[in-house]
Amino acid sequence: MAKNASSFVCQNCGAAYGRWQGRCESCGEWNTLVEEGATAPVPGGARAARKGRRFELEPLTGETLDAPRLPSGIAELDRVTGGGFVPGSVLLMAGDPGIGKSTLLIQAAAALARAGHRTVYISGEEAVAQVRLRAERLGLSQAPVELASETAVEDIIATIAEGKTPRLIVIDSIQTMWSNAVDSAPGTVTQVRGSAQALIRYAKKSGAALMLVGHVTKDGQIAGPRVVEHMVDAVMSFEGEGSQQFRILRAVKNRFGPTDEIGVFEMTGLGLREVSNPSELFLSERDLGSPGTAVFAGIEGTRPVLVEIQALVAPTSLGTPRRAVVGWEGSRLAMVLAVLEAHCGVKLGGYDVYLNVAGGLRINEPAADLAAAAALVSSLAGAALPADAVYFGEISLSGAVRPVAQSGARLKEAGKLGFKRAVAPETGRESGDAGLAVTGIGHLTTMVADIAARGTPRPAASPRPAKRA
Ligand code: TYD
Ligand code: MG
Repeated sequence: MAKNASSFVCQNCGAAYGRWQGRCESCGEWNTLVEEGATAPVPGGARAARKGRRFELEPLTGETLDAPRLPSGIAELDRVTGGGFVPGSVLLMAGDPGIGKSTLLIQAAAALARAGHRTVYISGEEAVAQVRLRAERLGLSQAPVELASETAVEDIIATIAEGKTPRLIVIDSIQTMWSNAVDSAPGTVTQVRGSAQALIRYAKKSGAALMLVGHVTKDGQIAGPRVVEHMVDAVMSFEGEGSQQFRILRAVKNRFGPTDEIGVFEMTGLGLREVSNPSELFLSERDLGSPGTAVFAGIEGTRPVLVEIQALVAPTSLGTPRRAVVGWEGSRLAMVLAVLEAHCGVKLGGYDVYLNVAGGLRINEPAADLAAAAALVSSLAGAALPADAVYFGEISLSGAVRPVAQSGARLKEAGKLGFKRAVAPETGRESGDAGLAVTGIGHLTTMVADIAARGTPRPAASPRPAKRA
């Protein structure tokens, strides 16, 4: 029988090596290899000698039990899971420490328990008293959630298996769990994987929905939940800026639902509050009348979301000007800048460029191109854009503005929030009944000329600081 000789395991991605090395070849991280016991629970390892058991193969067609979903009652969470927890499914909720994972899950557990479902919450990080204290603060202490502070996976499974199968089990967090079937220290990748395997096996067998919490750590010291990602049915990432109140729950992978939906929450003194109309939240603190901001009418999943895009174009004092972007792709910004430069005569070589999506939202849509370009040109020209206008459209490398999907929904949302104008692609626009005046833009130059005409362009920046002379 082949012995598993690999004993150096990357704590970031789980790749195993026979000897130590400084850099993991699989994920490229440095100093993440840690020596672990060679008795990793490789499936089939110890049991390989057992004689095979015959099982039935089944046709693809046949009776299926439509997975009855169990809604948590928290609409923003259910939107991201795709309508509720699926029995026997396993979810991983990943996020930075302190973002609010435990808060959200105790709220979900309490809501389910109140609805009469057996719900178990196992904390490996906090004492029972701490969890109780938080529940009390959130006004949830009356909910019949079954609570424990435990880290031994076998004990947890043995305890839960008694009595009625729970509808939801929360494990907070998977990094604190350890299984005695695995030799490595708690917190290592091998332990995280072994513990997750045991818990997942129990969930699949019993039909309980399992929610694993995983901390994301940038330094590879504590095992990242990445090794668990391919073992679970859905991965949700809980994001937000520490300084801001908004939290965004995003499905990264989902075997039972969509992956482009987001759930928006606000962290308050009384826990996480659902935000059913994110546009209002993202636009609540607008700098009206100042140059460099444009409102983008975007789509997140099935829901239109309006968000402010802010740009700052400032003369540089560096040889290579800075390009910094938060909430959008850097490569997309580079493309928009190149198109502005090549086709619209907007020279940005002597300027630093900063772009920010307000509210901590991250945009993946190419439809944001036009809004980003509008914000950039507005900042450069020192001309504020009309406060009642929204922007959307994809910019191609030729400078043509291409139509985007769901323009009807975008315009409708803008109309609902009191916007009066939209700057959008010329072709394929369904101006519809939103009541907005739509300005169709065929080529980017038209928009640039419009914005430039509103303000007085700054004198061209000198490419080098003059001070040194
Ligand atoms: P927590 O759920 O413990 O985060 P995680 O489990 O992801 O590590 O949330 C911790 C933060 O949330 C903490 O900084 C305090 C804040 N918080 C509130 O602002 N209001 C609340 O009602 C609660 C419970 C927490
Ligand atoms: Mg926590």
